[in-house]
Amino acid sequence: MKKDLLTLRDLTADDCEALFERSFELKKRDADGSSDRTLQGKTLGLIFDKPSTRTRVSFEAAMAQLGGTPLFLNAQDTQLIRNEPIADTARALSRYLDALAVRTYSQDLLNELAAAASIPIINGLTDLYHPCQVLSDLMTILEKKGELENLKIVWIGDGNNVAHSWLNAAAILPLHLVVSCPKGYQPDEAILVAAVSDTKGKIHVISDPKEAVRDADVIYTDVWASMGQESEHGLRKKFFQPYQVNQRLVAKAKPDVIVMHCLPAHRGEEISADVLEGAHSVVWDQAENKLHMHKGILEKFIMG
Ligand code: CP
Ligand code: NVA
Repeated sequence: MKKDLLTLRDLTADDCEALFERSFELKKRDADGSSDRTLQGKTLGLIFDKPSTRTRVSFEAAMAQLGGTPLFLNAQDTQLIRNEPIADTARALSRYLDALAVRTYSQDLLNELAAAASIPIINGLTDLYHPCQVLSDLMTILEKKGELENLKIVWIGDGNNVAHSWLNAAAILPLHLVVSCPKGYQPDEAILVAAVSDTKGKIHVISDPKEAVRDADVIYTDVWASMGQESEHGLRKKFFQPYQVNQRLVAKAKPDVIVMHCLPAHRGEEISADVLEGAHSVVWDQAENKLHMHKGILEKFIMG
């Protein structure tokens, strides 16, 4: 029976542990110059109908480096653009591919595709979630801090797709997660309530960003207007200004706080240029770890 990665709720804590372990091993083997060809003869399709630099390239490189073949499909170049039903697309592509990574707007559409497909479907970002991002971010926190428990991880900014995946992560792993968002831009209530009810850690919503980051081990932010929300950018800037991750805010966290951003970043908006480029920032290692985690994800979902 094929398994999908549509949200982090598709994984257990044990699944996450195994993914971290294997991804670190793959990273080490990469650094040693060893090559694993575990996906030789396999093909990964990628259908993206939003832009992507990191997710697309790291999945494509991961597949190629493991001996498999990535096949990128711009959604605009497929029959989807001429209204071929998503279920028909899913069934046809399942006859050619071993897995499909998808970046699209609607989580419902992704779920529909997964229900019709007989191959694993991997969520490469929707309006609602970005699960692969948060898996590699957790790997980065483990790498920098040596643990996930006993850390205060603070989300600052929009209660968006990445924030939702952080809530899902806190639902399955014993994290201490604080979410700090402007009024009206908080995470989806149902996702928040479910995470609070299921977590073995702690989830707090603290709207004042200065209070939220007090003694933080990790500060994480993301753009104020996500893909598809470009027309709201001007309005959002007004509400989000106090949530900028800058030197003043970072100074309230622990002295060894790490600052994370999934990228792309808008310097001078959600994060100041000096913080993004400063000593606390781990964003480039964070971006690199997408490659290693995506290798782990592809092995797990393609090989079982
Ligand atoms: N972090 C991330 O998903 O980046 P891309 O949009 O470049 O894929
Ligand atoms: N929240 C952002 C994440 C980009 C990786 C967006 O959806 O545009």
